[in-house]
Amino acid sequence: MISRCNISEIIALYVFSAWYWFVEWITRLFFLKSGLSGQVFLRCEGRTALITGGTTGIGFETARILLSFGMNVIIGSNLSSAESEKCLLKLRSLYPKSKVEIWYIDLKCMSSVKEFAEKYLRSGLPLHVLINNAGIMFAPHEITEDGFESHMAVNYFSHCLLTKLLLPVIKQSGNSKCKARIINVSSCLHFLSQIDFSDLNSLISYCPHHSYMQSKLCQVMFTLSLNRFLKISNCPVLVHCIHPGVIYTNLYRYVWWAKYLGPILFQKPKIGAEVAVYAALSENLENDGGKYIEEYVDVKPSNYSKDSELQSRLWNETWKLLQPWCDEVDDIPSDVSSE
Ligand SMILES: NC(=O)c1ccc[n+]([C@@H]2O[C@H](COP(=O)([O-])OP(=O)(O)OC[C@H]3O[C@@H](n4cnc5c(N)ncnc54)[C@H](OP(=O)(O)O)[C@@H]3O)[C@@H](O)[C@H]2O)c1
Repeated sequence: MISRCNISEIIALYVFSAWYWFVEWITRLFFLKSGLSGQVFLRCEGRTALITGGTTGIGFETARILLSFGMNVIIGSNLSSAESEKCLLKLRSLYPKSKVEIWYIDLKCMSSVKEFAEKYLRSGLPLHVLINNAGIMFAPHEITEDGFESHMAVNYFSHCLLTKLLLPVIKQSGNSKCKARIINVSSCLHFLSQIDFSDLNSLISYCPHHSYMQSKLCQVMFTLSLNRFLKISNCPVLVHCIHPGVIYTNLYRYVWWAKYLGPILFQKPKIGAEVAVYAALSENLENDGGKYIEEYVDVKPSNYSKDSELQSRLWNETWKLLQPWCDEVDDIPSDVSSE
């Protein structure tokens, strides 16, 4: 495997992240002390949310806040049943009346995603909020059994497939007064990325930094394309994406220095979870979808991500590669950018 790591790109990544980290601290210190308090949310009681990767980090805290708001929560996780049981006990001890379940999903494996979606559709549960949160970062090179690079599989392709397969129930669950929402947990690092269409799955050359950033850029572009398609089709569903902040979690397991500096310098998972909950439930975001949100503010995503030709190219490539797992559901056309 050829290394495609470019030292100037990696320096840019660290300088950019440090700048974001600094601005976030200043914002939190002086302007955003109150977190979610003061925000107006949609009705939550009895509504159902599904979150991937909700047993640790930002996902766990997001699930916890949604339960505290009275939502029913399904967590998609790759933990063993014994570990899932421990996590369930923890959540149920915090919110004894809550309805929470953990269902197995391995986002590296598209047939597992399909099985999960089929189980969900069979369950008859509604789906008001889907949070595509699970992710990996800077992992060693791995091509999954389906032929996807692991960052692209876990962070991007699996979530596209999950969303597509669950779209019928998401559409049914929303209405014009209270739309259903799909939230993609992306990253500010998408600003530094461009897609390598000639080697989307790093079959020729690999750099973990490039693959992570590319997967996060793909999530932003998917958000914009899917939201446009749902708007054109008059569906009561909004799609947003977020950067949760620089948060100390297991995501940094492949960053050697993070275990020393992360606990002191980075934010707590609750801070990132609050941004996800804001995107999922805030009344401020009910009118229009396709927003990229940082610190409770919708900001412009990168110019690259807004390019409609590139969006269309990614969209077509994505559904072509996912075709083996989604032939039975054809809710999404192969090209939406021109509509
Ligand atoms: N933390 C930050 O500073 C930061 C910044 C920007 C964006 N984000 C994004 O925030 C999201 C949440 O990350 P986090 O910081 O909370 O990290 P985390 O604690 O490591 O959470 C990631 C979750 O994804 C799950 N996951 C990973 N591979 C999976 C697979 N194959 N199948 C099913 N689940 C899988 C993990 O489960 P296991 O641990 O059991 O594998 C874990 O529960 C990610 O999308 C990340 O890119 C985080």
